[in-house]
Amino acid sequence: MKNETGGQWQFETRCIHAGESTDTDTRAIRRPIHMANAYELPTDIDQLLAVFSWDNLDKFQYTREHSPTPRSLEERLASLEGSEDCIVTASGMGAISAALFTLLNAGDHIVATEVCYTGTQGLLGVHLPRFGVDVSLVDTSVIAEVEAAITPRTKVIYVETPGNPLVSISDIRAVAAVAHKVGALLVVDSTWSGLVTQKPLELGADLVIHSATKYLNGHGDALGGAVMGGKKLLGKIREYGIVHLGACASPFNAWLIMRGLVTLPLRMRQHGENAMRVAQFLESHELVSSVRYPGLKSHPQYEVATRQMTGHSGMLNFSLKLELLQNFEFIKHLKLIKHAVSLGHDQSLLIFIPTVFFFDDMVVLDDRQKQKYEKIMGEGVYRLSVGIEDVNDIIRDLTQAFAAVS
Ligand SMILES: Cc1ncc(COP(=O)(O)O)c(C=O)c1O
Repeated sequence: MKNETGGQWQFETRCIHAGESTDTDTRAIRRPIHMANAYELPTDIDQLLAVFSWDNLDKFQYTREHSPTPRSLEERLASLEGSEDCIVTASGMGAISAALFTLLNAGDHIVATEVCYTGTQGLLGVHLPRFGVDVSLVDTSVIAEVEAAITPRTKVIYVETPGNPLVSISDIRAVAAVAHKVGALLVVDSTWSGLVTQKPLELGADLVIHSATKYLNGHGDALGGAVMGGKKLLGKIREYGIVHLGACASPFNAWLIMRGLVTLPLRMRQHGENAMRVAQFLESHELVSSVRYPGLKSHPQYEVATRQMTGHSGMLNFSLKLELLQNFEFIKHLKLIKHAVSLGHDQSLLIFIPTVFFFDDMVVLDDRQKQKYEKIMGEGVYRLSVGIEDVNDIIRDLTQAFAAVS
């Protein structure tokens, strides 16, 4: 999709047009959803070999390998992230496991963000070691901790930034330099950036991962994931991680995510503006003991966030000056903000994470790490995914729920 000078159209334009075209059968101006599992094969031997070649991603045989609707989404996401190619998957965890099980062998070592999405923590802390991979979980926002964890067997550094649930920010450029010095690959889970506000490949990452379930889809109605990066690496991940392990994308979900992407820049602008207003409101409220939002100067990595991101999405967290159980009373009074997991949806979503439950999920934190996060989290934190409703209504809902428990 090139403009008249052979260059790229602007980002907003590519969100609408990349991977889209007129349907050749009907002249419909949107490509149809192809739900078929299998595609009729040519009988000519050269044509048949062309279908089976990994180089021909516009030829199809079986939907687990790749199929037209997920392929359209892959073209759009590659264009938006600025990568050579993309693989879309059944979920964000499908993308992460496809990448890590392809890149790592028994005896290899990986350094990863210690506090990250609970599913990823389980994969890193429980499952990779089951297959003989050595895992070091460190605070990747502290570059000295990353450097200190490197061993001669380190093959991958895995960074989740912004990190779930504490919105911690790791310096992608600095971690990339550490990885590349020892010949390791840097993989960045950029889900919480919503793609628009952060470009890890430009900062030196080798692979970028998104849970497309979140901001990319944006409407809370489809699961999906994506891995983006160079063609050669992705070819191997498609074969090992998708064809052999199986977490391929559903065509219908791919189509929904494709449709969600059309409004991604508009939504991300509104998520960011709303979250900044909510974060400032929270910071000024007497019942609030702490707020973490990378757009606030009080955020511990404000300087890095400002340098490497062009905005801060809708993700923040805060704690209240309440006893543990009173936190659940607060949630009962919310009328607009939904008490639900997931994030990056159009509607605002909130969950309370008691620190004790959090440690149950973060299966491999040691005592030193637990003490550190106990200090940050107190009794627990609310993870708030600020939606794109009128921000005055979001603040109004928080205000009345605060008043009810004060
Ligand atoms: C940062 C991050 N990565 C990955 C995932 C997993 O995504 P999915 O639920 O699509 O498997 C999540 C889910 O919340 C997440 O927050």
